[in-house]
Amino acid sequence: MKTKDWFTDWFNTSYYHILYKERNDSEAQLFMKNITDLLRLDTATHILDLPCGKGRHAVFLNSLGYTVTGKDLSENSIEAAKPFENETLNFKVHDMRQPLSKTYDAIFNLFTSFGYFEADIEDLLILENIKKGLKKDGFFVFDFLNARLVKENLVSNEIKIVEGIHFNITREITQDFIVKNISFFANGKQHAYTERVKYLDEEKMSYYLNKVGFKIVHTFGDYHLNPFQPAHSNRLILVAK
Ligand SMILES: C[S@@+](CC[C@H](N)C(=O)[O-])C[C@H]1O[C@@H](n2cnc3c(N)ncnc32)[C@H](O)[C@@H]1O
Repeated sequence: MKTKDWFTDWFNTSYYHILYKERNDSEAQLFMKNITDLLRLDTATHILDLPCGKGRHAVFLNSLGYTVTGKDLSENSIEAAKPFENETLNFKVHDMRQPLSKTYDAIFNLFTSFGYFEADIEDLLILENIKKGLKKDGFFVFDFLNARLVKENLVSNEIKIVEGIHFNITREITQDFIVKNISFFANGKQHAYTERVKYLDEEKMSYYLNKVGFKIVHTFGDYHLNPFQPAHSNRLILVAK
């Protein structure tokens, strides 16, 4: 019997949201403002936020005047996002390995929401779905960690205490993956999860994007849209058409 994929389980738990509750939403909003200004997206633009989590970027983009659809595999996250829906903002459960049923003016893949799968062919399948889900001249915005920086500054052991839970975190780089093991005791039992993100650097991502027919039009290294510097940038942000 095939066990469930780690990303189906972990991202659907309340513990995932507790561990990452301090993520910087003002920085995420600054990024959305900067990128939509740079791409000169007008308010007739329909943006797909894939995957959207609980909708933090989607809700903000909608407040800027865009029509936004947010899709995510996690049923619990979509349920948490649903109350924010309005005429120009909607959320749906969707697995990004499945084709999209509509086309969009722009598709955003934000905050390291890629590289979860074992085989390169699955990564390529997702990018193909995204390419086919874009209207002519539509933009794909890809926001990922800078794998080299993560590798060179790897914190192999860490304890984070959030809402009284002691999260014991270990990190390692295996041949192709950045692996984070998270264990903790909560609600009367011990839990253990693993986050596994493929070691995708600029070269490999460019190869992927070219292979499915994208052309990279911008490369940035942070949410202020400074140029990407492989040894220093926090993020790898690619814009492709
Ligand atoms: C790191 S979170 C980022 C979510 C959101 N972009 C944000 O910034 O809050 C990654 C998200 O990917 C979703 N995910 C993982 N595998 C997926 C898949 N196959 N299809 C759709 N969503 C997926 C998870 O449920 C999770 O919400």
